[in-house]
Formats: sequence, structure tokens, C-alpha cells
Amino acid sequence: MKSTFGKNFTVSLFGESHGPAIGVVIDGLQAGLPLDLAYIRSQLDKRRAVGALSTARQEADEFEIVSGFFNGRTTGTPLCLLITNQSTRSRDYEKTKNLLRPGHADYTAFVKYQGWQDYRGGGHFSGRLTAPLVAAGAVCRQILASHGIVIGSHLAKCGGVADAPLPEEPAALLNALGRLNELDFAVLDAAQGQAMQQAILAAKAQADSVGGVVETAVCGLPAGVGEPFFNSVESVLAHLLFSVPAVKGVEFGAGFALADMRGSQANDPMRVDAAGRIYTTSNRNGGINGGISNGMPIVFRTAIKPTPSIYQPQQTVDFAAKANAELQIQGRHDPAIVHRARVVIDAVTAIGLLDLFCEAYGTNWQLNNEEN
Ligand SMILES: Cc1cc2nc3c(=O)[nH]c(=O)nc-3n(C[C@H](O)[C@H](O)[C@H](O)COP(=O)(O)O)c2cc1C
Repeated sequence: MKSTFGKNFTVSLFGESHGPAIGVVIDGLQAGLPLDLAYIRSQLDKRRAVGALSTARQEADEFEIVSGFFNGRTTGTPLCLLITNQSTRSRDYEKTKNLLRPGHADYTAFVKYQGWQDYRGGGHFSGRLTAPLVAAGAVCRQILASHGIVIGSHLAKCGGVADAPLPEEPAALLNALGRLNELDFAVLDAAQGQAMQQAILAAKAQADSVGGVVETAVCGLPAGVGEPFFNSVESVLAHLLFSVPAVKGVEFGAGFALADMRGSQANDPMRVDAAGRIYTTSNRNGGINGGISNGMPIVFRTAIKPTPSIYQPQQTVDFAAKANAELQIQGRHDPAIVHRARVVIDAVTAIGLLDLFCEAYGTNWQLNNEEN
């Protein structure tokens, strides 16, 4: 299914940047799940463009659930959530509609859809489509949280400025995730966060953009989740992470650095505590062995490229005339994506883990009967 992810429950995305609405259908949610709509709202707010660090297209992202939700609980039938587009300015795209934006999906969409695609604002390829993804992720995060599973991210790097590292010790890490999840600009070191914001503004002043790295951790995940080979935790999460526009790299645990280590440095020493729980004293494998969670936090990093739509003149091609051309982009764009993408990363992580959980324990695992 082209615009659908999932096996045990599915998430289907629809809409275009300048169409009337964007949205998501989640099928396979258990009946009777209580949903906190204010939490969904808060997650959408963390992705929303606000202030000088993001695009001047500032959408309210008010959402409406039009099916699958009644009297505060899921009904078990498909849940459809809609967000209307309100701040479209399609004329910005008319003048340059045949001029392909380097780094964007204009050329590939033209080829794939033979020119029938909605090109306004990037159409279906717009970062705007990540708003319903965040809403779907917020539903999944609530279900996972009712089972003690917490997901959170920080901007490990932005515009070349690095944040402090996430703590390795699981209790300290859980604590850090709690703090990060409250922040709009998610960094552990506020001074580094200021420097990142300066780097974004400096690039913007030069009609340019910056990229960065989002580092994510999942705490409370029991050992034994994930399937061997094709539905390993890494495969499923990487599938989803690479589905997010502008993501160009993913590494789990120590990732590429493992390639330069010896086995004696890469292996995580194993221990057992007084309660019989097996743990490791380091986490270079990122909480996954053989594609299956080992009970340590899942840790991974996602590289986000600089926003492709920059305001400097660029070499391109006029697709209609089949001639070389110069592009001066109109429209409204983010000078950086990474700070807005962080909740999108958390959201797709929740979607992937919920699907793997349902694979391991069945769809009726979703409702935590001890809590409700
Ligand atoms: C939250 C978010 C916001 C984005 N904002 C913009 C933007 O303002 N302008 C732009 O050109 N691309 C933006 N993008 C990235 C493009 O959608 C993306 O680069 C494009 O679809 C091409 O896909 P690719 O980079 O994965 O190859 C954004 C992506 C995300 C996740």
C-alpha cells in the first residue's frame, strides 16, 4: 500500500500542502482506548512553525477527529483525523512551477506522476504532511506510555553546534527525556541551544539553511520486542525514519563509530541485578541485538539535511522547456527543519514500536486494563 504503513495496525497519510486539508487514518486501534486530545494538541504545537526560526507560513493546525472516536474513547473502527490548510499562498508557486527546486522532490514527482501532481508548496511531498503523522504518533505514544514506554529526542546537532550528550544511565536518561519532552527547542544545554538558534538565524540572513542531527531514546521497552531479519526493530524504525522528508541518515547505538572499534570495545558487558534482570553496563548496541530489544534503552540518531528551498539563486532546469535556467525561489520556507522534525521522529518511532508490540502481544495488548 503506497501511502500506508503497518501490519497489525495501519497508518495512512493523505493530503497536499495547498489542498483543503491533510490527514491520517489509523486502522486497527483497539476499542475503548482513552485518548487525551490535549496531548495530541501539545505534540502538534511542538511541530508548528513559530517565530523567526521557522517558515513564515504559520498554520494553527487545529485538528478534528471525524471517525473512530466516541465518548472520549476509540470505537475500534478507523480513526480519521483532519487538519485544514488555512495559510496557503499558491500564487508563489505559479511563476516557478516548471523550475525544479534542487534538493526537493519537484523533479522526481514530475517524472513519477507525469505532471499531474499538485506542485503547489511541494504538494504531497511537503513537510506539512508530517503534521498528521505527529497526530498519529501522539495517539501511539499515549498507548505506549500507558505501558511505561517513554520516547524523547534532543537536537544533538544543529547548524554545526552540538548539544551535551544524552545520559547513558537508564534512570538519568528517563529523567532527561521527561525534561526534553516539555521543551519547544529540545536541547540539554540551553547555551548550546542559543548557539544553534543563532546559527539558524545566521544562515537565514544569508538566504541559506542548515541541517542537524536528532538523537532519540526509548525507555521502558521490555526485552523481546522485534522480529528477526526483515521486521527487526532497526528495520522497522529505519523504514519509518527514512519516510520523513529530509532524513538522509540513521544510526543505532554507536552506529558508524562501531566500524572503528574492536569487539572488546563494541560489546556491551552483561550483568544481572538482584531482581534477576539482565542489563548491560554500556549501550553501544542501542538496546537491540538480533533485531530484538534487549531491555536497555533504544538509542538512535537521525541526520536531517538543510532545507532545500533556499532564497539564493540556484542552477536548475525548466522542465517544460527542457532548458537550463536560474531559480529564485518564492514561497515561505524553514531556514532549518531539524527543530521541527524532532517530534516527527518521536511520532514515527511510536508508530513503529506500537506495530511491533502488536506483533509480539496482539492488538488487544493496546488497552492497559490495569490502568483503565
Ligand atoms: C517538518 C518539516 C518541514 C519542512 N519544511 C520545508 C520547507 O519549508 N521547505 C522545503 O523546501 N522543504 C521542507 N522540508 C523538506 C522537504 O519536504 C523534503 O526535503 C522534500 O520533500 C524532499 O525529500 P528528501 O529531502 O527526503 O529527499 C520539510 C520537512 C519537514 C520534515
